[in-house]
Amino acid sequence: MSMNWRQMGLGALALLTCLGCVSGQTQAERGEELYKYCEHCHGEAGEGHADFRVPAIAGFDQWYLEAQLQKFRVGARGDHPLDLDGLRMRPMSRTLASDAEVTQVAAYVANLDPVDPADMMTGGDPGAGRLLFTQPIDGSQPCVDCHGDRGEGKRDMNGPSLLHQSDWYLVAQLIKFRQGIRGADNLDVSGITMRPQALALPDEQAILDVVAYIETLDD
Ligand code: HEC
Ligand code: HEC
Repeated sequence: MSMNWRQMGLGALALLTCLGCVSGQTQAERGEELYKYCEHCHGEAGEGHADFRVPAIAGFDQWYLEAQLQKFRVGARGDHPLDLDGLRMRPMSRTLASDAEVTQVAAYVANLDPVDPADMMTGGDPGAGRLLFTQPIDGSQPCVDCHGDRGEGKRDMNGPSLLHQSDWYLVAQLIKFRQGIRGADNLDVSGITMRPQALALPDEQAILDVVAYIETLDD
């Protein structure tokens, strides 16, 4: 044999490098390509689609996007038989073949400019909602502890930003947490911390009120 181990190693390295240059894609380009699947529902700008109950995702924090995509992939979210919206998202998350693809598409979405979807819900009182958002309800933790004073999110509590999101979606998620359709799976370690907070809201009016307040934080 004329090649020694070192030469074979270099040969393999050259081959790998060459495969890389044939595909020639940067991480960002791959993220954009992966997002093509998502675009049908979430829209080109990540603005969501109220008629199909698809949320906005543009400009969300990358850590939150990745965490949710991983939850959908393993069935910690979007796997409950009554979660009709989640059940549509779950198979889409599985088009992402690896953790690297999750990171690439999440980075692309995080870099989109945030959008402010039109308000659609009526009957909420933002004044009453401000109290619910900033003060403890029946000894439970106030929303600001995990979502930040301005709803901007708190990474160390796993609490996502609630800004630039549709009001109907926020209402729908609070109802899901209350019903145990989201945040009740044993694998959903961070969702489990949110569920009692949603249950602490006394009634449907309180849900409308707190969401009406959250929507004022976008302005
Ligand atoms: C068939 C339509 C559809 C496609 C395609 C789709 N999604 Fe979704 N997605 C949804 C729906 C519906 C929800 C809302 C689920 C719920 O209400 O819990 C959602 C939720 C999400 C969420 C959670 C948002 C939040 O605030 O928690 C993220 C993140 C997300 N999608 C990212 C993606 C990405 C990335 C892709 C492409 C790989 C994608 N989606 C493809 C329908 C879709
Ligand atoms: C103990 C911390 C904590 C408190 C207090 C808390 N949350 Fe959350 N909340 C979370 C976490 C963590 C998540 C993300 C769950 C996940 O990863 O799926 C979340 C998610 C949400 C979501 C879904 C966002 C999305 O994009 O899907 C809404 C809406 C929400 N919280 C509203 C509230 C409101 C309103 C209050 C106060 C009544 C509140 N939260 C109090 C931790 C908290």
